[in-house]
Amino acid sequence: MKKQTSILLASLVALGMFASTANADIKKGQKAYLKQCKKCHGNGTKGAAMKTQDEWAAAFADDGAGFKAWHKDTKGEKYSEGRKFKKYAPHLKDFLFEYGSDSGNVPSCG
Ligand code: HEC
Repeated sequence: MKKQTSILLASLVALGMFASTANADIKKGQKAYLKQCKKCHGNGTKGAAMKTQDEWAAAFADDGAGFKAWHKDTKGEKYSEGRKFKKYAPHLKDFLFEYGSDSGNVPSCG
């Protein structure tokens, strides 16, 4: 009985940690979006709704190749090939995917 309780507790803690990490990355991604993408694409709600969840996932696969292709030969090219995008891409993906146009989710602010 005691052992079962501690296993249950341990898995609750693990679950809680997982949930808050996922959340933190979405928040980080939202912050990065506001800093890096908003000036060209408007607020986060509008930005994330530019694509569906599948499209975001595909765009960030393969080192962001799809994302880079969207920005090739535009004023966004320098950004998409730059260090900032590379560094924040995993968080940006979490945020954009979470709020993709077919997700049914809307970010609370931004
Ligand atoms: C310096 C300006 C600039 C920055 C920064 C920038 N973009 Fe872009 N982006 C563009 C331009 C210009 C295009 C191509 C023309 C268009 O579709 O608006 C484009 C295209 C896109 C497209 C494709 C739109 C379509 O209709 O298919 C998406 C999605 C997109 N950007 C998302 C982002 C996200 C997310 C970020 C931040 C991680 C970002 N962009 C950063 C300028 C920028």
